[in-house]
Amino acid sequence: MKLLVVGGGGREHAIIKKLRENPQAEVIYALPGNGGIAADAVCVPEIGAKDLDGIVDFARSHQIDFAVVAPDDPLALGCVDRLHAIGIPCFGPDAKAARIESSKVFAKNLMKKYGIPTAAYAVFQDPAAALAYLESAPLPIVLKADGLALGKGVLIAQTRQEAREAVKMIMEDRAFGAAGEQIVIEEFLTGPEVSVLAFTDGTCIRPMAASMDHKRAGDGDTGPNTGGMGTIAPNPYYTEEIARRCMEEIFLPTLKAMAAEGCPFKGCLYFGLMLTPQGPKVIEYNCRFGDPETQVVLPLLKTDLLDLMRAVEAGTLGEIEPEWSQGAAACVVLASGGYPGHYETGKPIHFPEALPSNVTVYHAGDRLTEDDTLLTAGGRVLGVTATASTLEEALKDAYAAADTIDFEGKYTRRDIGRRALEALTARDAKA
Ligand code: AMP
Ligand code: GLY
Repeated sequence: MKLLVVGGGGREHAIIKKLRENPQAEVIYALPGNGGIAADAVCVPEIGAKDLDGIVDFARSHQIDFAVVAPDDPLALGCVDRLHAIGIPCFGPDAKAARIESSKVFAKNLMKKYGIPTAAYAVFQDPAAALAYLESAPLPIVLKADGLALGKGVLIAQTRQEAREAVKMIMEDRAFGAAGEQIVIEEFLTGPEVSVLAFTDGTCIRPMAASMDHKRAGDGDTGPNTGGMGTIAPNPYYTEEIARRCMEEIFLPTLKAMAAEGCPFKGCLYFGLMLTPQGPKVIEYNCRFGDPETQVVLPLLKTDLLDLMRAVEAGTLGEIEPEWSQGAAACVVLASGGYPGHYETGKPIHFPEALPSNVTVYHAGDRLTEDDTLLTAGGRVLGVTATASTLEEALKDAYAAADTIDFEGKYTRRDIGRRALEALTARDAKA
């Protein structure tokens, strides 16, 4: 089969490596791909992930048998709708279903209408009304731009003044462009965070191993929000009891809600959850695999990924029960110094001669020169994943490998997985 993957980051690299395990995958094209992905797929750097015309022309002329649209932007723009229109089977939601991520107002209203637990909220189109509301709102308070904002459209204000500045930044200065036409102001929740990615064909849902992201740039969860500085799976906070509650109170109700709204969701649905003292609540939905969650979840998947994706498209997911490895995985992101603010690119990346067999490097932001040198080309450059029988070993091996890879200005958080290890220790002590 000829496969096409839209996107060019660490998540896409993890998807491609997994798809390659299926002997039916004779060629995989990555649009645009990146320097490191070129070792595993045929990259087409000229066709960007938002170039829908280019993607559709390519898929037609290369007689693609199955396409995977991984990033949020092309999904929201209707890439799957366009590929379906020329008869190409795809993994990913159509644009109507992708609104679950591309409009926070849509997602919040959906949860309210169908009684899915989430933070209490109000929506504003008018900055003056938002400012008036803030005068008596409880603090801290959370402010979210309605639309897609590269994971940066969420601001947590500790003071009224910070909240006013956030409204100005989102709605008046339009720091996130048109995403700031509407704003969601919501209750501040507390508790451990869990990411659950799930395959769903619209009626059946198969949650993957639960993971934990580390979104802030600095150790101890300090500094600005990033796309994610590292991940671990499975997430020790996600017990069987919580999983059962999430299935009943959140996952199945969300599927039913989307179907009832006339936009059944097919693809990977990402539940960003907070385990609050009142129970699990939805912080956000994403209409796609998480990045860098995918880099720890897919390495634990034992069932064939292409078979699962094709079952999602065919509506036969109920016939497959995915199997998961009993071990753990940890991913440490190597970023360019300065990320998520200003950073330099074009730095040569140095790898050791060999890496241990339980370590995989997923390339997120690099490019190949004409003489086949890898240069940094983004904020998040590499994700180094290790799998092992315990989380502690996976973390040790991921960090040991990450420390043997170098480029000028390399930055990593040093505490990925620390809280998860503490939670495991506390759980073992209780048992
Ligand atoms: P998001 O981009 O929606 O994932 O939000 C980024 C981060 O902001 C989340 O991972 C949470 O840590 C935090 N956050 C979002 N909404 C809330 C909330 N209602 N209460 C507390 N923290 C939140
Ligand atoms: N890692 C968070 C996300 O993919 O949105």
